[in-house]
Amino acid sequence: MFTSFNPKGKQVEKKTMKKGKVKEGKTKEGGVKKDRIMFFDTTLRDGEQSPGASMNLKEKLLVAKQLAALGVDVIEAGFPASSLGDFEAVKSIAQQTKIASAIAGLCRASEKDIKACWEAVKYAKKSRIHIFLATSDLHIEKKLQKTRAQILDMAIKAVKYGKSLCEDIEFSAEDAGRSDMDFLCNFVEAVIDAGVNTINITDTVGYTTPIEFGGKVAEIKRRVHNIDKAVISVHCHNDLGLAVANSLAAIENGARQVECTINGIGERAGNASLEELAMVLKVRSHYYNVCHSIETKELYNASKLVSRLTGISVQPNKAVVGANAFAHESGIHQDGVLKARETYEIMNPADVGVPESSLVLGKHSGRHAFFKRVKDLGYELGNKESESLFEKFKVLADKKKAVFDEDLVTLIEEDANSGKETFILDYLSATSGAGTVSTATVKISKIEDFQKPQATLSFQEAACGSGPVDAAYKAIDKIVNMDIKLTEFSLRAISSGEDAIGECFLKVKYQDVVYSGKGTSTDVIEASTKAYMQAINKAKSFADKEK
Ligand code: KIV
Ligand code: ZN
Repeated sequence: MFTSFNPKGKQVEKKTMKKGKVKEGKTKEGGVKKDRIMFFDTTLRDGEQSPGASMNLKEKLLVAKQLAALGVDVIEAGFPASSLGDFEAVKSIAQQTKIASAIAGLCRASEKDIKACWEAVKYAKKSRIHIFLATSDLHIEKKLQKTRAQILDMAIKAVKYGKSLCEDIEFSAEDAGRSDMDFLCNFVEAVIDAGVNTINITDTVGYTTPIEFGGKVAEIKRRVHNIDKAVISVHCHNDLGLAVANSLAAIENGARQVECTINGIGERAGNASLEELAMVLKVRSHYYNVCHSIETKELYNASKLVSRLTGISVQPNKAVVGANAFAHESGIHQDGVLKARETYEIMNPADVGVPESSLVLGKHSGRHAFFKRVKDLGYELGNKESESLFEKFKVLADKKKAVFDEDLVTLIEEDANSGKETFILDYLSATSGAGTVSTATVKISKIEDFQKPQATLSFQEAACGSGPVDAAYKAIDKIVNMDIKLTEFSLRAISSGEDAIGECFLKVKYQDVVYSGKGTSTDVIEASTKAYMQAINKAKSFADKEK
């Protein structure tokens, strides 16, 4: 059971969902009753569909744990039938015993997809199968080349099959925002009759406007006779910048689940942003009079984590979690905030989890200070991981005078990311200078068989380039022999001081799929090379799994 506070400051109890019904939260005193809004997070599925946002298994597990710390009701962990990698990721997340959120997997309305989804989600304490099928004539006729009657039949069969495996079924009417309302209402009624617990009304292409979308939800509530047997959910895309507004309009008209992602990432312009929805419902709780289970103090950490892992940076003026969200530039505003914070601040930064100060560690910092800071940053480490991390911290502290939070987070995540890599960089030497041709030499080990890591092959190559990074990449290309195309490259300092850590973030294309890579070091050529190696390893592992 989760707790939060209602506008009058009374503690509210929120009951967890049972068999697709959203229970009301009520005060301990039995006073104000509030409807509960369920948060369905799809960062790991729709969010991962953002170009270049693909994450590896370890990264997905980190995100899933953070989503659980946020208290989301449902984590959509992936689309199990879409690839072996997705299947394994959903299964591993479902197997995490400490995650209390329900684990959902997406699937098309086919037995094969539904079965694969169940095989992946069945390990979770609470599992959900999420089936989708388009209901707009445009999608039915042009994309699926079927009739409305065939779609209805497919949907009912899919729900019945899903229900034979899993108690909790969600059904998404894809492109509902542009669907004929008579057909949509019939469709919703039929899938609820077949047994769905949650009916998801999607604005797949972000086309609708708030009053219009809220009206559609109201119409479904009014016209579908069995609507009280299911939770109405909404899934809004942000093509016109209206995803959050549309979701809120839906809540005002009876939706009780919102689908969203951290930082609003997702297909094209993204999905409704979780942090914005959660903070609107908190800051304007008098207006909406609903409750939810999001621990808002975890929002800042979640935003940082997802941005670091996907390489999709958060725009500075992004609501709630942007770097400028609580920065006051004008003198009049600064004066006002100093006199009374509420003059220009409608949210307390602490409620979002923005850290007030960051403790700086250095080479004299002992274990106690180090592990306390790691814990305060929200990481839980096992004994083995802790030892290896402390060793790496000492090495870094010898190179750098001050080790900031950003440096620590980088160390921890680099450690979490090292795993089954086919190519390992053993040696790098690069030369450059004015009027000289840049050259680089690299030595790389290739692990052919993960069961026999000792049986590695070692390669060495040298190349010239238009700069040391270009030379290093050319030398690596000669060894990996994979026709990799670099499509994006950026370098930045992620901590302060002359000895700051440099982070390289890049994207490469291999066999029409985009992969991101990130590398950090106090040496920017090393950081750039590590990033390139990471992207190549992701591409190699994905391509091998697809074989
Ligand atoms: O945007 C959409 O319609 C979706 C569904 C698959 C839920 O992502
Ligand atoms: Zn979507």
